[in-house]
Amino acid sequence: VTDLARIRTLFSSTPEFDTSPLYSALSQRVAADDELLALAAHAPRGQYPTFLFFGAVHYLLLGGATHELAEFYPSIVGAAARDPRGAAAPFAGFCREHAARLTTLVSSRFVQTNIVARSLALRLGLAAVRAHTRGPVQVVEFGASAGLNLRFDRYGYRVGGRRFGDPDAKVQIDAGWHGPGPVPDLDDLPEIAGVAGVDPRPLRAEDPEDRRWLRALVWPENARQADLLERALAVVAADPPTIWRGRAETARAVLADSLPRGEPRVAFHIATRMHVAVAERDAFDAGIAALGQDAPLYVLSAEVPPDPDPRPRPARRGVALALRQPNGVVRDLAVVEGHLRWVESLPG
Ligand SMILES: C[S@@+](CC[C@H](N)C(=O)[O-])C[C@H]1O[C@@H](n2cnc3c(N)ncnc32)[C@H](O)[C@@H]1O
Repeated sequence: VTDLARIRTLFSSTPEFDTSPLYSALSQRVAADDELLALAAHAPRGQYPTFLFFGAVHYLLLGGATHELAEFYPSIVGAAARDPRGAAAPFAGFCREHAARLTTLVSSRFVQTNIVARSLALRLGLAAVRAHTRGPVQVVEFGASAGLNLRFDRYGYRVGGRRFGDPDAKVQIDAGWHGPGPVPDLDDLPEIAGVAGVDPRPLRAEDPEDRRWLRALVWPENARQADLLERALAVVAADPPTIWRGRAETARAVLADSLPRGEPRVAFHIATRMHVAVAERDAFDAGIAALGQDAPLYVLSAEVPPDPDPRPRPARRGVALALRQPNGVVRDLAVVEGHLRWVESLPG
């Protein structure tokens, strides 16, 4: 159990919830309540207590827990949801009533939010890899969760007024485009020989409980994301990609027999390294780099803001989509919003 002062700081300022008025309001209540902070403090090392705690409450409500608190969740009562400013007291009451189950959930689950739109980051990266190789390449996602990004080739994309992928797919990903550069051709990708994921806790798209956990991690107001999640889960459940149980740190041992030696590999991780404890991040990087011992390795990642930021006057807060080539050269391809609502190309 981590110290309450650190957890209080995390709940006191939550820019990550700027599109969730409910979670923004509830965060303030949690920050001021030691009993609630103590529940959130059961989060495992490296896991964000904010996402886990609100996810656990949402999970119980989606499972049918009857309580006044449900009236504040658009995900449960739709447009009839009450003003979030009145939610604090019912929230505290709900947490007291369900303290035992919340403790179990918070201490045993991981933040596994699988954002379908992040497939666009993979597609952008593969379009950049295409400048180096026609393939075939093996794609491996680290922190694949339920594997929704690994079915990137089954979706349609509308980016900055251009369309790519399958225009008739039930999953259509929309993103804005900013910055000086043109939208790359996202249909011109290297040939994909295979896709696979690695995750310490692979979720199964066909499992109702896993689906509920994934749904619980979507913020209650975010109906569009919830709808995309459902649609993508249907695609993945019909044809699930292989997701190996394991951590990036030890991935080479897990993957050694399944990836052909010599065939180029594209390792991808997005919103995953940030959920690894700081002390373990070097081992995380080394575990992925080890895949380069048997074949040319491209590492595509989106985890941290660009540093230094090449934009003359950065107006948008996002993370760098970075590509490390087999020769070690690293280049930021773009800045992307965390949920891929927009992409900003970079000067030069
Ligand atoms: C926030 S989710 C992101 C899922 C997916 N990349 C996406 O963006 O939609 C983070 C995932 O990383 C996984 N994870 C946590 N630690 C990991 C590690 N050491 N190696 C690989 N995956 C890890 C978690 O289980 C979880 O499924």
